[in-house]
Amino acid sequence: MFADELQMREQQIMRFKSSIALVTGAGSGIGRATTLQLAREGARVAVVDIDREAGQQTLELLHKEGGEGVFLLADVAQSADVQGAINRVMELWGRLDILVNNAGTMRFAPVVQLSEDDWDRVINVNLRSAFLFCKYAVPHMRRASGRRGGSVVNVSSVHASATTRNVAAYAASKGGLEAFTRALALEVETQSVRVNAVAPGAVDTPLLWSNPNLQSGAEKLEGTVISAQGIADAICYLASEQAAFITGTVLNVDAGRLARL
Ligand SMILES: NC(=O)c1ccc[n+]([C@@H]2O[C@H](COP(=O)([O-])OP(=O)(O)OC[C@H]3O[C@@H](n4cnc5c(N)ncnc54)[C@H](O)[C@@H]3O)[C@@H](O)[C@H]2O)c1
Repeated sequence: MFADELQMREQQIMRFKSSIALVTGAGSGIGRATTLQLAREGARVAVVDIDREAGQQTLELLHKEGGEGVFLLADVAQSADVQGAINRVMELWGRLDILVNNAGTMRFAPVVQLSEDDWDRVINVNLRSAFLFCKYAVPHMRRASGRRGGSVVNVSSVHASATTRNVAAYAASKGGLEAFTRALALEVETQSVRVNAVAPGAVDTPLLWSNPNLQSGAEKLEGTVISAQGIADAICYLASEQAAFITGTVLNVDAGRLARL
């Protein structure tokens, strides 16, 4: 193999060498897989989760693979926690290149039975969190833009486009997240910060199997279940230089689910 081709290959497998990343909901599922992939490819990663044990387990896995990171306990719906997490990253590493807004939650009930508290919790964890992290992190990412620019990846869902009964708050939060992604991308495009979203279909994580629509058979997956690693790969692509000309988009990663509808 030619030397320049070898160098290119090496760059491809270490796309995040010397990058600083922050992943929310990194204690499980898609967030954990994304954290480990970013670290494998050279990033130092802030592992943010509301579940201390789960977040620390992710950090242990990261260390086992030779990665560098830190666990930060935070409720992504709380402004003080969000600002605290970002400040800690700046103290530790002095900049932030990649922000993955992945933490998410669901509540299952018809709208007329859904409590106001449950509506607020879903909207706050899934949507307000992205607003808070972007509001407080993007100014630091701008500063990093002299180096290589920053990248925000929001984790949406197929439910933003086509949904089912009993998940209205979740569907609304993800629809809002996609609109937010496009709007913020326009605001920061001149600062070399890109903002995109992935919209997963059914992913094999604890969140998926908590859905009573699946348990009752009201929703069928028909061979479209994706691994968390499959979503992590899409997130890492959008975060990487390979997606340098991509901003304001939503990438569906759903094994053809939307195409079938
Ligand atoms: N699993 C799927 O089928 C699927 C499909 C489409 C979209 N998604 C989205 O992917 C994202 C990750 O989901 P997952 O399937 O990996 O779920 P998961 O339940 O495996 O992991 C979610 C993680 O987020 C953390 N979290 C929850 N609320 C939090 C909060 N307030 N503050 C900080 N951390 C919090 C949890 O502790 C957990 O570690 C979510 O945004 C979800 O909506 C998942």
